[in-house]
Amino acid sequence: MKELAGKNILLGITGGVAAYKSAVLCRDLMRRGAEVRVVMTEAATHFITPLTLQALSGHPVHSELFAAEAGHGMDHIELARWADRLLIAPASAQTIAKLAHGEADNLLTTIVLASDAPLLIAPAMNNVMWEDAAMQGNVDLLLARGVTMLGPASGDQACGEDGLGRMLEPLEIIEHLQLQLQPGLLAGKNILITAGPTWEAIDPVRGLSNRSSGKMGYALAGAIYDAGASVRLISGPVHLRSPHGVDCINITSAQEMADTVMANVSICDIFVAVAAVADYRPANCVKQKIKKNAETLSLELVRNPDILAMVAALENAPFTVGFAVETENIIEYATQKLTTKRIDLIAANPVSGDNSAFDSESNELTLIDRNGISHLSRCSKTLLAQKLTKEIAHRYHETHPAKDS
Ligand code: PMT
Repeated sequence: MKELAGKNILLGITGGVAAYKSAVLCRDLMRRGAEVRVVMTEAATHFITPLTLQALSGHPVHSELFAAEAGHGMDHIELARWADRLLIAPASAQTIAKLAHGEADNLLTTIVLASDAPLLIAPAMNNVMWEDAAMQGNVDLLLARGVTMLGPASGDQACGEDGLGRMLEPLEIIEHLQLQLQPGLLAGKNILITAGPTWEAIDPVRGLSNRSSGKMGYALAGAIYDAGASVRLISGPVHLRSPHGVDCINITSAQEMADTVMANVSICDIFVAVAAVADYRPANCVKQKIKKNAETLSLELVRNPDILAMVAALENAPFTVGFAVETENIIEYATQKLTTKRIDLIAANPVSGDNSAFDSESNELTLIDRNGISHLSRCSKTLLAQKLTKEIAHRYHETHPAKDS
């Protein structure tokens, strides 16, 4: 059976160079069994012809809000009702702004307003435009409404610049869609996740921390929520918005993270420790700012609790998933952590050269459990999180078969 058989995908194409990729996207959606109807904005038709999309989808392309041939002049309502998913790729800065503010001045934006189908947007634009405060404000509004943002990716741009703003490749977009259309993998389950760094205060203005941005953990929390679970995220200090639907508790230090996890763990089925927790903290946090009077300064550090090991040692321990950053002997060191912490699964991030898992948009993972080793290759953290969710769900269900009622 084809992965997208029976699914109705409305593909919206807006004006941008990346529109040429939409032809491949349309063809690959159809190859996977999806029914595709294409809606193009007027600007999109300057980059790719409707005829190309008509030939690929096997249906006329829609672009007029008031097309005479549309049934009762209600084309947008019919298309809005028909779609299981609305996918806009590429989404231009202008369309994103219109969607954020509920404007309905063309067929595509009107369909979005008229549809209750989940909306996925693959932005494509110049990197400076993407990072503009107004654009990010619009993205925030859409994310807060539960819209799925696919990318953008980073790299060479048609304008000659390099940065964040490229449309994701068609296959990446399709993988997102497929994973999103398999809901219920973790329906009814309670998941507790840690993410981000911890901050261990030395004095009121200084502290020990690390480069974790929280991106991997937040992406995983969002993907697990999309898989139907209730998710509680315990997060160290990061600059990220809490994922849609996820209950987020903010903490600062490793001890606070440990206390909060232990207070919430009893109701969880799966515990995933993505946080980069400080192994040590200063023995004493000085009340006043330390003055630089001496040539040298010694800092006494004491061990922090190992949260993951504590959870795994509980009498009724949930299914436990750990993460590990390794620069060498990845499999050996990660396997040691799996064994000594007595956890069910460990996801190791290989870190080398430019491929740092910390604070990057993409990542790759080597998964190790008692049955063996597998690899999730490098891709955006959002997509990786969806793939990992599937892996966790399969392993969880294998070890916790549903009881017959
Ligand atoms: O946040 P990003 O910028 O997106 O980066 C993601 C990440 C690289 C931080 C993430 O993918 C990751 O690998 N997190 C674990 C980092 C690490 O090196 O952990 P560790 O080897 O110190 O610990 C192993 C495991 O034990 C981890 O699951 C950790 O959460 C847990 N642990 C560690 C120490 C401690 N005191 N308590 C813990 O629970």
